[in-house]
Amino acid sequence: MTANARIVAVGGKGGVGKTSVSAVLTRLLLGAGGKLLVIDADPVISVSYTLGEDPKTTLGDFRQGLIETPQQQRELEGRPLKDSVRDLLTRSPRGYDLLAMGRAEGKGCFCGVNEMLRFGIESLCSDYDTVLIDCEAGIEQVNRRALHRIDDLVLVADTSMRSMESVTKVRDIAVFYNEDKPLGTHLLINRVADDGDRLRAREIAGKLGLGIAGFIPEDPHVLRYNAEGRTLLELPDEAPSVVALGALVAALELGRPR
Ligand SMILES: Nc1ncnc2c1ncn2[C@@H]1O[C@H](COP(=O)(O)OP(=O)(O)OP(=O)(O)O)[C@@H](O)[C@H]1O
Ligand SMILES: [Mg+2]
Repeated sequence: MTANARIVAVGGKGGVGKTSVSAVLTRLLLGAGGKLLVIDADPVISVSYTLGEDPKTTLGDFRQGLIETPQQQRELEGRPLKDSVRDLLTRSPRGYDLLAMGRAEGKGCFCGVNEMLRFGIESLCSDYDTVLIDCEAGIEQVNRRALHRIDDLVLVADTSMRSMESVTKVRDIAVFYNEDKPLGTHLLINRVADDGDRLRAREIAGKLGLGIAGFIPEDPHVLRYNAEGRTLLELPDEAPSVVALGALVAALELGRPR
C-alpha cells in the first residue's frame, strides 16, 4: 500500500528535540525534490506550529465526527477513504502537505474506525516519496492509529543516560509493530555542547548496544526561532542543526523522488 513512500518517524523521550529535528528535516527534505507528507502525531499539535502552520482540521476531529454523526458516516459510502483523509491535509505553499493527527481516542470503542482510517492514511502515503512523522514521546499511537510500517526510525536523545535508555524502548516498540519488515534505526544525540558530551554519549550508547548516527550541536538559532515562534523552515544554511541533519539526509539519501 505504501510501497512508494519512504516512511521516516522521529521518536524519543519527551522534550529531547523531536519536533525541532522534524522541522529541520522538513526544511532539508524540501530541497531534495521528492513529494513530502509531514504527519504531526503529537495530540496537542507540535511540528505544525514549528513549520508555521495552524491546521484547521485534524484526523482526531474527523474520527470523533464519524463516531458521533451517522450523517458523516453515510458520506463516506462510495467514496475512497483516501480522498476523505486527503481532505484533512493542510497544503503548504512551501511545497509539502501536512496531516495533523490531533487528539487520541475519547470514550467508546475506536478499534474499527482506527483500522479504517489507518487504511486511508496508508493509501494516501503511496502518493508521496517521503512521509515524515513527528511522534509524541511514545511511538505506539503512531503504529496503532496511522501506519503499520516504518522504514526509518530517527531516534533523538540528549546526552542523558535516561533519554538514551528511552530510545531503546521506542526502538523495541517500533520493531515489534514492524513485525518482519526491515527497519533502519538512526540515533541522533541532540544539544551536544562539546567533545566531553560526545565522549559520554558514546560510552552510554556503547553500554546500551546502540550505534550513533550523528551529533546535533546546541543550536542558538533553534532556541531563538522557537522562542520567537518563527518557523524553523527559515533557519540559515549555516545553522549547526541544519549542517548536522544535512549530513544524515545525505547519508540516508532521504527525500529523493523514488
Ligand atoms: N539542537 C538544539 N539546540 C538548541 N535548542 C534545542 C535544540 N533542539 C531542541 N531545542 C530546544 O529544546 C526544546 C524542546 O524541543 P522540542 O519541542 O523539539 O522537543 P520534543 O522532543 O519535540 O518535545 P515533546 O516531547 O514535548 O514533543 C525547545 O525549546 C527547543 O527550542
Ligand atoms: Mg514534540
